[in-house]
Amino acid sequence: MRWGKRTDLVVHGEDPFNAEPPRAALADETVTSLDAFYVRNHGPIPEIDRSLWRLRVDGLVDGELELSLEQLKARFAEHELAATLQCAGNRRIGFLSVRDVPGEAPWGPCATGTAVWSGARLADVLAAAGMHDDAEHVAFLGADVSEEPDPAQPFGASIPRPKAIAAETLLAWSMNGEALPVVHGAPVRLVVPGYIGARSVKWVERITAQSEPSDNFFQAESYRLLAAEADPDAIAPGEGVALGAVAVNADILSPDEGATVATGPLRVSGYAFAGDDRGVVRVDVSTDGGRSWRQADLLDQRSPWSWRLWATEVDVAAETTDVVARAWDSAAAAQPESAAHLWNPKGYVNNAWARVSVSPDRSAARADRTTSPGRRDTA
Ligand code: MTE
Repeated sequence: MRWGKRTDLVVHGEDPFNAEPPRAALADETVTSLDAFYVRNHGPIPEIDRSLWRLRVDGLVDGELELSLEQLKARFAEHELAATLQCAGNRRIGFLSVRDVPGEAPWGPCATGTAVWSGARLADVLAAAGMHDDAEHVAFLGADVSEEPDPAQPFGASIPRPKAIAAETLLAWSMNGEALPVVHGAPVRLVVPGYIGARSVKWVERITAQSEPSDNFFQAESYRLLAAEADPDAIAPGEGVALGAVAVNADILSPDEGATVATGPLRVSGYAFAGDDRGVVRVDVSTDGGRSWRQADLLDQRSPWSWRLWATEVDVAAETTDVVARAWDSAAAAQPESAAHLWNPKGYVNNAWARVSVSPDRSAARADRTTSPGRRDTA
């Protein structure tokens, strides 16, 4: 088991290691198990000696801090929160039939997961350092060095001040009640609930209060929404829109794409998520391409920062059926129908309707007909 993961993960890259679970591993689980949680890396996983690791807090602060793991744990109250992480590239595969997205992994719908994180509030650490009023952004640097920028850089990000001092933003050292796994950022990572996963910096070593957003490659040049005609290899730092809060999104986790199912009633279930201060208020499912919809039941949610699971029943006829789903958020935004209107050069934020295609089990149908001799064979 690589990095403690299930062996059936879809591996998008070995080095750096990038992988997502199959749909079935996420289906109907409010909290994702550690062995099924997706992994997104931009460089090699760093080797960190916990006893030597230090967290430096600097920039626009009254007093710089340098904290060992023990000091961080001893000095700051531990808070627990169930929160969903979702990669901005989640569901990129849906863009590829519109137009290729060169150089980016074809993530399916499972570059997302929900964990119970615990650690210190970033707000408490920033307050202890005495963050200045003119610090509009808080930047982070990880210990891993990525070769994607030229020259290579540590992975970094920043978030605006209000999000940095919000109660939900954590410096987490624990995931699902266990010590944070190395592959997920041990000894300590940011968890920025409701923001794209890229802002939740793993293996964090440095936190800087500053007046501007981070100039790190992954904030200033990558993870930005570019115009369709832009050349992603030739953009200027700051071009396009920096991605922050996650747009309303959903996908179907059961049945799987291409599944063979019995005709008749079929349970359809999945996840829906809306970032930052938005919640999922409705999920609709259709089997006639969106001409008519049925509202799904909204199921458990571990916290306002977690995805909302949903389920409903549809009727599968004798033909191949496309099941589609769309979610609505508390600002009345709904997922758009088609990825064609959303395509962008880096393939981020595909929140078009979820679709899976299922085929009726013809052998079951035949068996059924054998026992009902009066029925006309339409196979
Ligand atoms: N932090 C560091 N240091 N290096 C990285 O490559 N990847 C980011 C983020 N934090 C990354 C990082 C991205 S793009 C995502 S989606 C999440 O981590 C994925 O977190 P996970 O691997 O724990 O699922």
